[in-house]
Amino acid sequence: MHLIRRNRILRQSPAIRSIVAETILRPSDFIAPLFIVEGNNVREEISSMQNYFRMSIDLTVKEVKELYAMGIRSVLLFIKCKDELKDNKGTEALNPDGLMQRSIRAIKSVCPEMLVMTDVALDPFSTYGHDGIVEGNEIVNDPTVEVLAEMSVSHAQAGADFVAPSDMMDGRIIAIREALEGNGFTKTGIMSYSAKYASCFYGPFRDALDSAPGFGDKKTYQMDYANRREAIKETMMDVAEGADIVMIKPAMAYLDIIREVRNEVDIPVSAYHVSGEYAMIKAAAKMGWLDENRAILESLTSIKRAGADLIATYFAKDAVKLIN
Ligand code: PBG
Repeated sequence: MHLIRRNRILRQSPAIRSIVAETILRPSDFIAPLFIVEGNNVREEISSMQNYFRMSIDLTVKEVKELYAMGIRSVLLFIKCKDELKDNKGTEALNPDGLMQRSIRAIKSVCPEMLVMTDVALDPFSTYGHDGIVEGNEIVNDPTVEVLAEMSVSHAQAGADFVAPSDMMDGRIIAIREALEGNGFTKTGIMSYSAKYASCFYGPFRDALDSAPGFGDKKTYQMDYANRREAIKETMMDVAEGADIVMIKPAMAYLDIIREVRNEVDIPVSAYHVSGEYAMIKAAAKMGWLDENRAILESLTSIKRAGADLIATYFAKDAVKLIN
């Protein structure tokens, strides 16, 4: 044969492959989610998320220092609220001395350079396990948005660099932006979960925080996974309302959405490789059915290749070790 172009030339050795690789993962691509609980010296493995832990603040700050030393530059905080503090109004979410607010202050005091992002939604604080206030059978939008805006200000006051509303209520980004501006928080960013789908892949996360909805599901606020155009509509609205970073969630079943959003917006795009995606790889690896390390790198590289500038993932630490 006399071929003009032999594509295999560029694949023949690790050296060649490395100089032509289009997508390279780096430590600062990753956002490390952290689950925080009350207490001291507490480190509890989450049963459906093998080798991932809920930790008390003292151990969380050590973890944050380690993550920073590895090159990770952002953490995303979730707290497990005590049952007796839960209600239908998110009262505890606004407590200036709540677990979230104390966690933010503790992390910023030991590792001020680490970017602290905070989950903004009512589910961990809700007796109903819903992201908003419940009236009858309904998750009511506008009263919820008021609380989310106050919650965001409370996180900013404690020192959060970014608030990350994950609730999917309408109008919350503009409300949060106005509340931040109104309180002088002109440097606090908003990372909006813009296209968050009602997904079965959040199951292990709800075990981690004991936050599964008590009745019904989240389909009246989270998106229908049948829809693509709607993701663009949601995202463009969040951009117009002042989001600094937008997010697609989950990641691997939504690579088409990540790509489409990346093509549409001119701000950073993040993707959340969620708890169920973590659990699937862990479970298959445990069975000996998948090579865990290769599955991690292939998954995260695919998410970045699809267009994610940032990836929230429970594999952040493993991935950094594998890259180095
Ligand atoms: C809560 C929230 C959820 C996740 C992040 N924030 C769960 C949900 O919406 O039920 C899921 C994260 C994961 O599964 O890793 N608003």
